[in-house]
Amino acid sequence: MAEAGRAGHPRLLVLGAGPAQLGLLEAARARDVYVIAADRDPAAPGLRLADERAIVSTEDEPAIERLARARGVAGIVSPGADWPVGVAARVAERLGLPHPLDAATATVVTSKARQRERFAAAGVPQPRSLGPAADTFPSVVKAVDRQGQRGLTLVERAEDLGPAVARAVGESRSGAWLVEELVEGPEVTVNAFSSDGELTPLTVTDRLTAEPPAFGVALAHVWPSEHDSAAAAEAARVAAAAAGVRRGPTYTQVRLGPDGPRVIELAARLGGGHDAELCEAALGVDLNGLAIDAALGRNAGDSPLLGQSPSGGACVVFLVAPAGILQAVEGLDEAASLPGIRWVRSYRTPGWRFGPLRRGADRAGAVLAVGDDRDDALARARRSAETVRFVVGADVV
Ligand SMILES: Nc1ncnc2c1ncn2[C@@H]1O[C@H](COP(=O)(O)OP(=O)(O)O)[C@@H](O)[C@H]1O
Ligand SMILES: [Mg+2]
Repeated sequence: MAEAGRAGHPRLLVLGAGPAQLGLLEAARARDVYVIAADRDPAAPGLRLADERAIVSTEDEPAIERLARARGVAGIVSPGADWPVGVAARVAERLGLPHPLDAATATVVTSKARQRERFAAAGVPQPRSLGPAADTFPSVVKAVDRQGQRGLTLVERAEDLGPAVARAVGESRSGAWLVEELVEGPEVTVNAFSSDGELTPLTVTDRLTAEPPAFGVALAHVWPSEHDSAAAAEAARVAAAAAGVRRGPTYTQVRLGPDGPRVIELAARLGGGHDAELCEAALGVDLNGLAIDAALGRNAGDSPLLGQSPSGGACVVFLVAPAGILQAVEGLDEAASLPGIRWVRSYRTPGWRFGPLRRGADRAGAVLAVGDDRDDALARARRSAETVRFVVGADVV
């Protein structure tokens, strides 16, 4: 859409322009929306997709509020990042903008501790909480108000509990942390969309995760799941109801444990691992578009949750680079040209310093693939991922 033609369109403020926001920014660009993207990093890859850029932290609530007022935005959205979900909801409420979440609900969903309380009160199945003197191992320690595996540790022995708690406290905004049982078993993500309090599950994907010390970091999302999608979707539905989410997208991580599903976390937003694009590739449902419409207070059109061109299988596989200073990314075009590959993205440009893989933000890129079935999609994505080479130089300390 021509730049000039876009100026008259409703203004959408998108919080974040990093890898997790690229899909929504691309979708907004293809629609009748004028996009203002905010990110504190001037090199954020999504800024080039916006009509207007604001170099500001998405966590700086007063600055986001000033920006929203000054630019007369019609809606605010935080795709793929948790804390700004609360910023978006509170600023929208103060400005009287339509918004899928009220501020009180946003406060619940952006705190792992408040979610746990709501889930307990409503009988939503979840990991058992262990007290501060937790003596059950393995256990999981996490900061209540962080995401992306910051401050998250799998604790296998008693002597590792203290350091894990110190890490969680160090990462937490409030200093608060929690410790809970490790739920064994496969993990799925339920990507869903709610209207008028009714949740419709879309893609249920297998979350394939890294081994410790990168505990919990997703290396692939694969559709359809090999596991009990219906049970996971039901857990996501009761979790959203307990948290009070009535409209908009939800992203719910569910472990299918020996005693049934356990809700690890619910986020009232799009997933940050290209989940909406995976949904579109899998089911033909424009989940990014649904999230944009919800943020602008538009009603979803007729049957938007019925897909147009479903695939047999689809997946996102993340790319991981060796540690060091990035010098070049090779093989991207070839990787993208292989059968079934929708796109290949490198998140970083030369000069970026990769550390060892510890959390989601350490990932280097991603591939979106479709196939005849899940295994075909996964094999194609992996073949494509192997074609990409991150050339790194020695890290100068
Ligand atoms: N109690 C638990 N039992 C099993 N796995 C867990 C548990 N808590 C977290 N995980 C794993 O860690 C991942 C991230 O957990 P989460 O609580 O969402 O932290 P973050 O928001 O920092 O990513 C989950 O997707 C899951 O793989
Ligand atoms: Mg999480």
